[in-house]
Amino acid sequence: MIPDRMPKSERSLSAAQFPHDLLGRLEQPVTADSLQIRDVSVPVCYAEFWTSKQRQAKSIHEISYRACFKPQLPSFFIRRLTTEGGIVYDPFSGRGTTVLEAGLIGRQVAANDINPLSRILVFPRFFPPNEADLNKRLASIRDIPDVKSEIDLSMFYHAQTLRELLSLKEYLLERSVSGHEDQLDRWIRMVATNRLTGHSKGFFSVYTLPPNQALSAERQIRINERLDQQPPYRNVKEIITRKTKSLLRSLTGTDIENLRRAGAAALFMDSEADDTPELLSNHVDLTVTSPPFLDVVQYAQDNWLRCWFNHLDQGLITKKIKCLKRIPQWRHKMESVFGELYRITKPGGWLAFEVGEIRKNTVRLEETIVPVGIATGFECKGVLINSQTFTKTANIWGVNNNKCGTNSNRIVLFRKIV
Ligand SMILES: C[S@@+](CC[C@H](N)C(=O)[O-])C[C@H]1O[C@@H](n2cnc3c(N)ncnc32)[C@H](O)[C@@H]1O
Repeated sequence: MIPDRMPKSERSLSAAQFPHDLLGRLEQPVTADSLQIRDVSVPVCYAEFWTSKQRQAKSIHEISYRACFKPQLPSFFIRRLTTEGGIVYDPFSGRGTTVLEAGLIGRQVAANDINPLSRILVFPRFFPPNEADLNKRLASIRDIPDVKSEIDLSMFYHAQTLRELLSLKEYLLERSVSGHEDQLDRWIRMVATNRLTGHSKGFFSVYTLPPNQALSAERQIRINERLDQQPPYRNVKEIITRKTKSLLRSLTGTDIENLRRAGAAALFMDSEADDTPELLSNHVDLTVTSPPFLDVVQYAQDNWLRCWFNHLDQGLITKKIKCLKRIPQWRHKMESVFGELYRITKPGGWLAFEVGEIRKNTVRLEETIVPVGIATGFECKGVLINSQTFTKTANIWGVNNNKCGTNSNRIVLFRKIV
């Protein structure tokens, strides 16, 4: 399917001009176009590169995070542009889609995200637990009968659910400060963090927004009034067991082995993406990433309950994750990030940079990012636009939560010249 927006007069390039190692093995038809930026003509390819025709992604990815991409996206590049043991990196790692997919495929990984919640959500999933061990650990966590919350959360939780949740929070804090926190504790923390609020019985809270957009207490009170609802009792340990089963359901023994191996050697950082001295120069084979897009996502506000549960300072996250609302600001930051990505990429290595569909596609960030990459020293191999069959909730070019323009599929591909 060719998107309507492609000007007919520009449909001149052959898909063969796109790197053969990327498109040569594609079964779907590819339509080619070009993007003229100053004196550089960059190929633009439209196809259904991933999604509906591909096999299901692994269940271990199923953690909500704002503006995350589908695992099929990094998978497409990792499988084509790296080999066994190659090093895959994501400087804006989020829920860790790139690095988990790379681990599953038998690659080494490095991840960075300035939001400390990212590591809490990503690292434990490299170490999937044995379900019996997990249940034994959960059973050992005592409920503290007189535990009290320092803030009023009664609009989200039934009193008994809140007691269970606070007991778990205390347990995890004690394990962490005493230095006894292990992979099972981290797994429990990760699942609980993901189950704090949501819109179904699989969450600890009464009905609210999806889990990555925690409402304020005041707004939740209004929702409860409007829907005439009271928080029902939800069994915290049972929900953790159920979500664990679901996360593990499609993992094979080889998947688990690959994840553990990658996790044991992984580098996790929570720095600014343009300041990662822990990563060696000329080290990474492939980076697959999507940066924060202009003003679309409020990571700190959306995550206030996750911060509360994990004793993280929400104010600090607000300060650290700067909202770059205007293109010149955004470009300036990306120039600095590209400098760092150039340093850490091996000669001949790749960078797949997802730019999103912003403001109903009136802003084309590839037009900003192509010159940034070229000025840094990368060769721009082209832009891939994943066009897929429309669904009920889809916007133009097909992804399913495009209302705010964040979950898009426009990727600029660069290579560091040997
Ligand atoms: C679009 S999301 C990435 C989502 C990711 N691709 C996934 O699938 O989960 C962008 C991420 O960049 C992080 N971030 C924002 N500013 C950053 C910065 N200056 N340095 C590093 N990470 C940053 C945010 O915390 C957020 O997790």
